[in-house]
Amino acid sequence: MPILRNIAQLATCPSGNPQEDAGLIDNAAVAWTGDTIRWAGPAGDMPPEYNSEPAIDCERRLVIPGLIDCHTHLCFGGWRADEFAQRIAGASYQEIAAAGGGISSTVTATRAASLGELRRKASLTLDAMLRLGVTTVECKSGYGLDTANELKLLEVYRLLNQAHPVDLVATFLGAHVVPAEHRNLRARYVGLLCDELIPAIAREGLAQFCDAFVENGAFTVAEARRILSRAAEYGLQIKIHADQLSDFGGALLAAELGAVSAEHLEYISKEGIEALAGSGTVAVSLPLASFYLGEAYLPARELLTAGVPVAVATDFNPGSAPSFHLPLAMTMACVNQHMTPQEVLNGATTVAARAISASDRIGSLLPGYKADLVIVDMPSLNQWLYQFVPNACIKVLKNGLWV
Ligand code: NIG
Ligand code: FE
Repeated sequence: MPILRNIAQLATCPSGNPQEDAGLIDNAAVAWTGDTIRWAGPAGDMPPEYNSEPAIDCERRLVIPGLIDCHTHLCFGGWRADEFAQRIAGASYQEIAAAGGGISSTVTATRAASLGELRRKASLTLDAMLRLGVTTVECKSGYGLDTANELKLLEVYRLLNQAHPVDLVATFLGAHVVPAEHRNLRARYVGLLCDELIPAIAREGLAQFCDAFVENGAFTVAEARRILSRAAEYGLQIKIHADQLSDFGGALLAAELGAVSAEHLEYISKEGIEALAGSGTVAVSLPLASFYLGEAYLPARELLTAGVPVAVATDFNPGSAPSFHLPLAMTMACVNQHMTPQEVLNGATTVAARAISASDRIGSLLPGYKADLVIVDMPSLNQWLYQFVPNACIKVLKNGLWV
């Protein structure tokens, strides 16, 4: 049974803790067998028989659960660096989209790319995420927007999940925007999603979740209700891109439909917060998207005070958030969303796990949980999120193996 010893600070991130308590233990040790944590606690409480087991000396560093990026658009063709320059010169995200750029231009590039090309590119991104300590990634489709190309993206995720050490959780986001060929007949595209794509994806088991972008220029509340209700009938769980650019009713819809998560929420209303408070829905904050678009940050304090758990994720995509650096998003959540380091770490571990319905298996370092953990070259959680270095992660254990 391998043992990690001489840990200066261990964050256990128990799923039952209030978000402000990351279960920190100073002078700790962890033991695992196979892919499962067996014991974690203060070094002085370690069962004496473990003393003869092979030990790894953490040399007084921080140890955390493997990070979970619970909101990404991992797979896409091309990039949109030109739009970054346009936005800096004053064009808004929505103006660029209305002029045919934005998501639509990534749809064109994604349709033109082969499955092999997309897979290679996404695999390199996963390699880099893993080096940052990310061991599980939620990944959305939504740049294909027709049957063949949405299935192509979900197939990339299925293949990568088999081949790559990082675990992938797939979300169908056919309701990202209405593609150009259906623009004058929106109902036909909604029908395609409901009657063709959702049944096919459910049948093939290609996605666990269904998401919809509820916003001006994307999908109305009524359209999203129809699409997501159909997805639920087929056994998919619900996520919503809600209230990102305006107070558009997305959070209310998430509460109404019992969504697992409501994501973005930069412009959530008071009523939206109240609705989420009683719903069990997790709020997913995406500070990198706020940063790159120069938009508001999600009101984390109001949500947490209302009792809504707040996850922290990157939103990695070629438009609003081209960085996959989850620790950067975490430091930004501290500074710009006024979340404490413990709230943020829980937000990128056990609360993120809850946003993908997996908090009973991952996101905590407790007996029975998956042996996914990270040795961070810092003496404490506070020091790590405060100092921010390009990559403080020096070792990643995934499924009980060093990767
Ligand atoms: O989460 N809001 C919608 N989707 C993405 C952006 C996608 C893009 O710009 O390509 C987001 O920000
Ligand atoms: Fe997104």
